[in-house]
Amino acid sequence: EPPEITKQKAILRQVTDMMHHLLVNTTSGEAALAYLTKRGLSQATIDHFEIGYVPGDRQLMKKFLDNREVSYDDQRQSGLFAEDDQGQLYDRFNDRVMFPLKDQYGDVIGFSGRVLDAQASQAKYLNSPETQLFNKSEVLFNLDQAKNQFKDNGGAVLFEGFMDVISAYQAGVPTGVASMGTSLTAEQVSIIAKQTRHLTICYDGDAPGQHAADRALGLVGNQPRLEVGVVVLPDGQDPDEYIKAHDAEAFQKQLKHTLTPIGFRLAYLAQDRDLSSDQAKLDYIDAGLKEVAREADPVAQSVYLDQMSQLTGVPAATLAQSLPQALQTAPAPAV
Ligand code: UTP
Ligand code: MN
Ligand code: MN
Ligand code: MN
Ligand code: MN
Repeated sequence: EPPEITKQKAILRQVTDMMHHLLVNTTSGEAALAYLTKRGLSQATIDHFEIGYVPGDRQLMKKFLDNREVSYDDQRQSGLFAEDDQGQLYDRFNDRVMFPLKDQYGDVIGFSGRVLDAQASQAKYLNSPETQLFNKSEVLFNLDQAKNQFKDNGGAVLFEGFMDVISAYQAGVPTGVASMGTSLTAEQVSIIAKQTRHLTICYDGDAPGQHAADRALGLVGNQPRLEVGVVVLPDGQDPDEYIKAHDAEAFQKQLKHTLTPIGFRLAYLAQDRDLSSDQAKLDYIDAGLKEVAREADPVAQSVYLDQMSQLTGVPAATLAQSLPQALQTAPAPAV
């Protein structure tokens, strides 16, 4: 590792410890600690993820690193500061709950800070900018811990958000990683594929989450080694909300209730259509049969045709008659 990288990692490590200390041991962190406690996080979980807090000061981090004789250039490289017109640095993060972001070896490479009460005027989560250490497109939150659990716990579970990973961890699911939003990247997929052959996608149950899950399946399709399942949570809930509204056991059951990629596509294609109209029904059948045609196993095909039959009221046997035609226009079967 280049000395420059080692030095930056040491800075972020010190800052992580300081922010965690502020959250759990000082009066300035009381409101943030109360917020996390209200969201159901235990002290042990807060320690495990090394969650922290920065007050509204804008000079705190600056003073902290000045006192440790960290140079202007090194401070500037750290991604912890913004810069005014005169080139003066001031804290990028203020009055936020801080989540350390780590590489797969557990070294802190950046942060994401959440506001305590979300207002439209500011980003709910603010991330470190791209730095020598932090390249957002290849970071998966919690991969450093989760990867050691994949083998014994059925592979990786992919969530959107920090709180989904953290709530899942508290609910007995240690294998969660987060793409940190809905725009999963090909790099993230390939990093997952290096660690496990089993992936469960569990994005938010709302429309953006479902759209993102569909997009994620497209990316994952380029990794033939990965066996993928998709969980669709009810009522538009995200995993954290689902766990709150139900319990750990119900959540673990949901994670086992996976749809196959084709099964998910059949449900997803039906979502945006009003299947009471004949034209929409015909469009849906057309699109759906192309999905079913990607399946080589006749038993699985039959399961999918039943699924389509239930949604459209068209007998499965009738749908099956149109399948050879769909096969001609469909891409090669997924292996
Ligand atoms: P969500 O909007 O689903 O937020 O974004 P959330 O995770 O449910 O947040 P809580 O429960 O209100 O705390 C999913 C993820 O997208 C990234 C974060 O990683 C977030 O966890 N995100 C979201 C950002 O990076 N910036 C934002 O402003 C919003
Ligand atoms: Mn492994
Ligand atoms: Mn979301
Ligand atoms: Mn969410
Ligand atoms: Mn949430």
